[in-house]
Amino acid sequence: MATINDNYLKLKAGYLFPEIARRVTAFAEANPEAPIIKLGIGDVTEPLPEACRAAMITAVEDMGDRNSFKGYGPEQGYPWLREKIAAQDFQARGCEIDASEIFVSDGAKCDSGNILDIFGNQNTIAVTDPVYPVYVDTNVMAGHTGPANEDGKYGGLVYMPITAENDFTAEIPDQQIDLIYLCFPNNPTGAVASKAHLKAWVDYAKANGSIIFFDAAYEAFITDPELPHSIYEIEGARDCAIEFRSFSKNAGFTGTRCAFTVVPKSVKAKAADGSDVELWKLWNRRQSTKFNGVSYIVQRGAEAVYSEAGQAQIKALIQFYLENAQIIRDQLTAAGLAVYGGVNAPYVWVKTPDNISSWDFFDKLLHNSNVVGTPGSGFGAAGEGYFRISAFNSRENVNEAMRRITSAA
Ligand code: MLT
Repeated sequence: MATINDNYLKLKAGYLFPEIARRVTAFAEANPEAPIIKLGIGDVTEPLPEACRAAMITAVEDMGDRNSFKGYGPEQGYPWLREKIAAQDFQARGCEIDASEIFVSDGAKCDSGNILDIFGNQNTIAVTDPVYPVYVDTNVMAGHTGPANEDGKYGGLVYMPITAENDFTAEIPDQQIDLIYLCFPNNPTGAVASKAHLKAWVDYAKANGSIIFFDAAYEAFITDPELPHSIYEIEGARDCAIEFRSFSKNAGFTGTRCAFTVVPKSVKAKAADGSDVELWKLWNRRQSTKFNGVSYIVQRGAEAVYSEAGQAQIKALIQFYLENAQIIRDQLTAAGLAVYGGVNAPYVWVKTPDNISSWDFFDKLLHNSNVVGTPGSGFGAAGEGYFRISAFNSRENVNEAMRRITSAA
């Protein structure tokens, strides 16, 4: 009889967001009149920028004419998109990244999981606690961990606590770590990293032969001119970091699907025979084998992000969500809660009042205010006692959710 990948049996019951959805559905079924407002999953609500829509409509027309019709595209993405990404997202910020090092994909979530395909099974791996659950679960699936213990931590992973005490930025480890996951602006805490903090990581990685997986899916929310948007703004990062980016949160592509991963040709890791191997070659091979590229139409939509109109439109979109975050911060602070993040990030990280647990706070908000957020403990043991509120919603819903929460407080 066929057998399964037993590592899947080690996974905790549900991925966090489906578990929230399950509880919300149960509540909605029992209370069909309840006007639920969802500030849980970080899914965008505002329409796609006009420039992206117009470009996709033209691309649909291209597909209707034999002369401009496109079949399979390059697995790595069309050169016209890769070149704009390299020029505007990286070279314009002084990063030495070439278009050939950009791999266009259908999501940063998929890429941050799939990247493990090209790494060995013996690496030591560090994640922050709390953390975006995908980094942990994909390592569990790949067999890189032992079973979970009672507080939900998996044996074999190194957890780096991020709390208010360390400004939600992890200490540089004093042990050898081979693969390090960093996410800035941070999901879930909304924390940001200074250049000095990233430099400390790059220096560590170079000294230890480590690879940094840098998730910059929320970089567009950085408004402070002193903060780095890419790890490649740090000298030496080209030798030790892979960066994940997405059009989901800056241009509203969560349902449209387009992202990219940057694998510099200078990042290397060891083969079993001791030789150094370019990760670019392996990732290129992996993508060419397992992936057939993002649709032409969607890539044209993503390309429009880099037009003058597209840039103005995504700026307005980000500004809109950042204003939501400011409203959430102001209202919850006025209600006496301690809030973090939400300034250069779309997530506000809230300390639960009176030391109640994250899931109890979730249930309280759902039942008393009909507002859905995300329990901090769902992101890791050190997230217990915190709660994440997403700024991705309409202004009307954000105002109404805050009115309900503050009047119930
Ligand atoms: C979240 O709520 O954390 C997001 O949905 C993450 C994601 O984009 O996958």
